[in-house]
Amino acid sequence: MKNIVVGQSGGPTAVINSSVLGVYEKAKELGVEKVYGMVHGIEGFLNEKMVDLDEYLNSEENRELLKRTPSAFLGSCRYKLPKIEGNEEVYEKIFSILDKYEIDALFYIGGNDSMDTIKMLSDYAKDNNKKQVFMGIPKTIDNDLPITDHCPGYGSAAKYIATSLKEIIRDNASFGVVKPTVCIVEIMGRHAGWLTAAASLAKDDTCEGVDAIYLPEVDFDLDKFIEKVKHLSSTKSSVVIAVSEGIKTSDGKFVCEMGSDDKRVDAFGHKQLSGCASTLANIIAKETGLKTRAIEFSTLQRSATHIASLTDINDALTVGKRAVEEANNGSTGMMVTLGKDGSTDIYDIHNIANVERKVPIEWIDTENNMLNKEFIEYAKPLIQGELIPIFKDGLPVHLVRKV
Ligand code: F6P
Repeated sequence: MKNIVVGQSGGPTAVINSSVLGVYEKAKELGVEKVYGMVHGIEGFLNEKMVDLDEYLNSEENRELLKRTPSAFLGSCRYKLPKIEGNEEVYEKIFSILDKYEIDALFYIGGNDSMDTIKMLSDYAKDNNKKQVFMGIPKTIDNDLPITDHCPGYGSAAKYIATSLKEIIRDNASFGVVKPTVCIVEIMGRHAGWLTAAASLAKDDTCEGVDAIYLPEVDFDLDKFIEKVKHLSSTKSSVVIAVSEGIKTSDGKFVCEMGSDDKRVDAFGHKQLSGCASTLANIIAKETGLKTRAIEFSTLQRSATHIASLTDINDALTVGKRAVEEANNGSTGMMVTLGKDGSTDIYDIHNIANVERKVPIEWIDTENNMLNKEFIEYAKPLIQGELIPIFKDGLPVHLVRKV
């Protein structure tokens, strides 16, 4: 391969930049001349917005900083390529840019929506005898990509959630003796409950854990929820509950939409799911008169590189490297997958793009709104290890793109 390009797409994670580093390091090892980075994914690429990664990653110090830098260093996008038929000019434009910069392989780091880009480009290349190859690199805090055991990004977000919940549980317990306090914490993950399930990891020798967990895999029943909170607050002075942003009632209505008529969606048709903790906290306050608090982890959970999991960072690096190795061997239209032990493989993108993997229902204790031990055994290894930030003047230092 002469030159290659890598892009980041979709919601960022705490370790998405480690995959860029993996791509860069393996490419350089294989003698690739230029490693370009798309600025704001395929959307920026269509406008020829790219950086030469040598400018940033030619020093050991910067490579170490990149591993400790949150969000998408290159910039991200939520851009859906149009269907090929009738939109050939968009594809021709992409291939003309690839030809112009003598790019032989394109790597896209993203989740199930972003993998659609790899599917479309590899299909177009095949049907039109283009020489370039296209590889998907998994990433999502949602952990909802199929085939792969887990997704880089998930372990770090899970570690942040479990850590913060341990701290919240201590805080909530400090006032609760006089009158119970109910704290409802909202966690991202769209239609899959993997990340909310990570709330169960807060329980350990020094923490009693959360009192209930509500996942989108199980229909949400408001009356039962109110009953549960009433019961918990009659037996204990501090109640902490984790809810997924994507919980829905049996008629398909998102809890976060109760009382809202916002119909805005992104390019992939997803609504912004936000506000279910405050909706529920208000309902509980009204129904019980108890003190309530709503916490939305929001972007904190996907940008908390200061508490990233080292296992996750290493997985992110490894999938980036494997993608380059595979492209160098001529693979295309595939995504790298991870095994439980961090081993890698590749899989046909057609079975991955736009598919969502949910938490297995048998891992959920629906009676008690908790997770079974199968989940704990699955998730615990993914949050192991730390990479300490590099501090200056009391704050972590990051690597920031100039353009
Ligand atoms: O897909 C990752 C994710 O962080 C989801 O968990 C969340 O629902 C979504 O992105 C939020 O997207 P945005 O930041 O674009 O609102």
